[in-house]
Amino acid sequence: MRTTRTWTAAMALACAGTLAAAQEGAPVEVLHWWTSGGEAAALNVLKEALGEQGIGWNDMPVAGGGGEAAMTALRARVTAGNPPTAVQMLGFDIQDWAAEGALGNLNDVAEAEGWDEVVPEAIQEFSKYEGNWIAAPVNVHSTNWVWANAAVLEEAGVTEQPETWDEFIAALQAVQDSGKIALAHGGQAWQEATIFDGVVLSTGGPDFYRAAFIDLDPEALGSETMVEAFDRMAQLREFVDPNFSGRDWNLASAMVANGEAGFQIMGDWAKGEFINAGLTPGEDILCFRVPGTEGAVTFNSDQFAMFDVASEEARASQAAMASNIMSPEFQIAFNTVKGSVPARTDISDEAFDACGKKGMADLAAASEAGTLLGSMAHGHANPAAVKNAIYDVVTAHFNGEYDSATAAEELVNAVEAAM
Ligand code: BGC
Repeated sequence: MRTTRTWTAAMALACAGTLAAAQEGAPVEVLHWWTSGGEAAALNVLKEALGEQGIGWNDMPVAGGGGEAAMTALRARVTAGNPPTAVQMLGFDIQDWAAEGALGNLNDVAEAEGWDEVVPEAIQEFSKYEGNWIAAPVNVHSTNWVWANAAVLEEAGVTEQPETWDEFIAALQAVQDSGKIALAHGGQAWQEATIFDGVVLSTGGPDFYRAAFIDLDPEALGSETMVEAFDRMAQLREFVDPNFSGRDWNLASAMVANGEAGFQIMGDWAKGEFINAGLTPGEDILCFRVPGTEGAVTFNSDQFAMFDVASEEARASQAAMASNIMSPEFQIAFNTVKGSVPARTDISDEAFDACGKKGMADLAAASEAGTLLGSMAHGHANPAAVKNAIYDVVTAHFNGEYDSATAAEELVNAVEAAM
């Protein structure tokens, strides 16, 4: 994928004396957690784009949504003095590594390509540290989505898209009554946390979400509204099948894809699985915002953070990789496969399916309205220690260890201890 933009950047790099090195194509070693079918297909778009420029790819996959396992593997590599070239990273993790002084600097390529003008503000907050570009954003995902198998809904007599929480519960009940699994879910902490993003937003609205998850206001965390959010989680728990424990998210998506289940509440990476299964989003698979959250978006952006590497060749390949990632052509080719939307504001939605078009419109509207909120579950609301503390409480409650009132109290304690 040679693009005008890529060449513009390449020229700039040539001026900086690094192009010759880039042409030799030091391979990039990429640590990531894109191991499902849809994710691998999207990753291939990137591998191929680099391959066309003679840059090899050493793959370092570490499965697990939210990147917890990948971050543990990364820590081990860095401690051993051998960081990978580029690492898939989310929100606060990027900032934490930058604060440790571990990341390289992408200012040359960012300036040559005008990233400041096209990357949404909310994303730049994570891609830059002390004014310097340290990561290249590949996409914008969001977590407050529901995915539904249209045929399963029809069979169950669910003819209208649920607009309110009560309507959603009624639709889940109808699917369950029809003999299907109502809610496809994988019992892993990060998946429960992903659902919790949408449930908290739906229960309390954007201001409450912000107070609880971004400001970590103990009053919001321990409030009646939070108790109600936990009650809603308990309601959802009634609609998952008995084998949910430990199931991977993409297997839950497959249950929706193959008509075993009606709904899944998951970030739009689930759409990548549906596309990969040959289904058409907006037709075979319906998408809508978690009822009660329309107008707001809980986002996370996958970025490739570049580690500070010694060799000039490796740095040139990092710059070439970043330049590829940021090109409009790549953002379209990648995101139409991944399920996410572009991390640039200047891309037409023409190539995107119905859910992608909605995702792009929702992102722009939420950004305008001040209702674009960082996803707690995916590292865009707080640093890992706080995120993990919230995970523990949410998952313990989902598995019946706490009632809702206790869970809200525990949330206050856990967050306080982690801060
Ligand atoms: C990432 C997505 C990924 C998902 C599941 C999220 O944290 O942002 O890119 O597809 O995890 O692996």
